[in-house]
Amino acid sequence: MEDIKCCVVSCEKPLDAAYWEAQYKTKATGWDLGKISPPLKTFIDTIENKNIAILIPGCGNSYEAEYLLEHDFTNITVIDIAPTPVADLKEKFKNNSNIQIILGDFFEHQGKYDLIMEQTFFCALPPTLRQKYAWKMHQLLADEGKLAGLLFNRPFEVSPPFGGSKEEYEALFAAAFEFLKMDLSLNSIAPRANSELFFELKKNNKVKVNLYEFEGITCSGCMESVTKKFAAIDGILNVSMSSDFAEVLIVSKNEIAVGELQNAISYDEKYQIKKIS
Ligand SMILES: C[S@@+](CC[C@H](N)C(=O)[O-])C[C@H]1O[C@@H](n2cnc3c(N)ncnc32)[C@H](O)[C@@H]1O
Repeated sequence: MEDIKCCVVSCEKPLDAAYWEAQYKTKATGWDLGKISPPLKTFIDTIENKNIAILIPGCGNSYEAEYLLEHDFTNITVIDIAPTPVADLKEKFKNNSNIQIILGDFFEHQGKYDLIMEQTFFCALPPTLRQKYAWKMHQLLADEGKLAGLLFNRPFEVSPPFGGSKEEYEALFAAAFEFLKMDLSLNSIAPRANSELFFELKKNNKVKVNLYEFEGITCSGCMESVTKKFAAIDGILNVSMSSDFAEVLIVSKNEIAVGELQNAISYDEKYQIKKIS
């Protein structure tokens, strides 16, 4: 985690489709529980409306989807970037019209969901993508939609998985989501006991959530100054910069013109900001 706070984060492994596919092909899938994660089972058991649109990103073998189907949920979408688990799920659930199984990149996916379930997807992504994850989740949720599931509350020496902390997640999701819950999970599997948070976030549909490419920052001191400049703009509610300083997530009451953002950092001509659409 010290690395993440430092100037540049580099990940030696490109965590792309080929990487994940190789993990499945070589059965190096230590994350796979072989059954639904108990905290998610407990959570699913509380859902009354079985027709809500549910997305499970980075689904892997998706025992969660299987459990939902067994319990009569009718509108499930799962997506994964690796062909092997997707092919297996397609075979397992062929002729079942209550589930849509997609081979693809979560960040390219379009749709609207009442619930998105998180189970070791966030921790599989390079930490530099965390702001993009929050932005994309906000886009994919319907107005009253929720993001719920598990996040690690600990660092890891070897990654993936990439760890984190409650404070970090609170800073990342602030203002774009209402925090309904983010507590130590009480019924995690034994190897993950006391190291997972169960969270439930509700989309804040009253705010604008935008992601920007950023150029010019080379140290965390500069990052803090830039963040303060943006945070001081009237209407801005939260600013979160990626650990490689290449992207910034801005939550605001109203749409902020890129020109206004650029003006706020005009004291250094290296700094360039561009909206990602
Ligand atoms: C650690 S595994 C977790 C799988 C499953 N959720 C589980 O708990 O068994 C992470 C999964 O995310 C998938 N993944 C990684 N990046 C992705 C992306 N950009 N879009 C969709 N899936 C992705 C990987 O292929 C892998 O199946």
